Amino acid sequence: MKRNILITGGAGFIGSHLVRLFVNNYPEYNIINTDKLTYAGNLANLKDMENKPNYTFVKADICDFPAIRSVFTKYNINGVIHLAAESHVDRSIKDPFSFAQTNVMGTLALLQAAKTAWNTFDNKLFYHISTDEVYGSLGNEGFFTETTPYNPHSPYSASKASSDHFVRAFHDTYGLPAIVSNCSNNYGPYQFPEKLIPLFINNIRNNKPLPVYGKGENVRDWLYVIDHARAIDVIFHNGKIGETYNIGGFNEWKNIDLIKVMIKVTDRLLGRKEGESEKLITYVTDRAGHDLRYAIDSNKLKNELGWQPSLQFEEGIEKTVQWYLDNQEWLDNVTSGAYREYYKKMYGNAI
Ligand code: NAD
Ligand code: DAU
Repeated sequence: MKRNILITGGAGFIGSHLVRLFVNNYPEYNIINTDKLTYAGNLANLKDMENKPNYTFVKADICDFPAIRSVFTKYNINGVIHLAAESHVDRSIKDPFSFAQTNVMGTLALLQAAKTAWNTFDNKLFYHISTDEVYGSLGNEGFFTETTPYNPHSPYSASKASSDHFVRAFHDTYGLPAIVSNCSNNYGPYQFPEKLIPLFINNIRNNKPLPVYGKGENVRDWLYVIDHARAIDVIFHNGKIGETYNIGGFNEWKNIDLIKVMIKVTDRLLGRKEGESEKLITYVTDRAGHDLRYAIDSNKLKNELGWQPSLQFEEGIEKTVQWYLDNQEWLDNVTSGAYREYYKKMYGNAI
């Protein structure tokens, strides 16, 4: 059976890596990338995909049910990998409504579109990409497993938790074939420079202050984005319907320690004295409701489906810093909104 896979949010950070991996590794599939192109979505992230015969881009809002329904019909979609979301915790604190709208109502619209488009559920899959933040915060010990109860704290994580529940509700109520995965913090190329790692690399490059929330003692579990895309590939093809899989790097870092590593690597690659940019560290008011620690136990994925991270953190962070320094035009364009002009040239009034 021909696979026609709808990837939502494919112009974003993780989505663009996933689209590239699927388009390149599965030339026999049709990959349909549907994205609203918010501030976080950039077609420039996928320039190398534009002429691939098995790749199609459709600009649409996942909340627009008729538009999504017509994507299902036109492209005969039989698999969905759903990434489109508002993704930044700080923005969710300022504007919770848009998070509920896209993450909850958008996911519901997509589920309903799949359910109504699919006459039979044979050989269909709705795969929902979620976050470890739904589990809340850990103390100094322990890990999130697939059975950890949900306890979200930010409007972002509350909206993602709600979307996960809707996906499972569609599986339990209507039999929609669905899988959910919950991943830890990703890093790598094409991440919008509002998130810690690209923001700080960009600020070091521009000699701007590095705003460390609170005392910098919060802990995150970092995974290279291509390892996340590989995990999604494995789960999409071999995961069990109705199951949840946790994805993590077994790679915990206290923010301040990570920041010092980033400074060291960035200074060296910029030809500065290593550690010189530590003077830019500025402790600022903590994020409201800031979760102390995330750490994922991804043993289920490792033992049942054979996935594990391929890249060591030291190599990943070096590659990441190098990428942002080599792609300063991309950084300048996304921070200034200059890609709007690029879209207009490429797509005219459709954008
Ligand atoms: P991102 O913000 O970089 O990309 C999100 C994409 O979704 C953008 O291209 C944006 O234009 C698109 N989008 C937003 N609203 C839309 C709408 N209404 N309709 C259609 N498209 C819309 O996010 P990301 O970091 O790549 O995250 C992708 C997914 O992975 C999200 O669901 C996020 O919750 C999840 N996730 C992210 C991380 C991480 O560390 N970044 C970790 C775990 C899970
Ligand atoms: O855990 C998975 C989640 O990781 C994803 O679901 C989210 O989409 C993604 O944004 C990320 O959330 P975080 O809030 O952990 O990522 P962020 O890069 O915003 O922050 C990482 C840590 O760094 C966090 O403890 C807050 C801190 N921080 C962040 C920024 C932007 C700072 O100290 N200063 C900053 O300026």
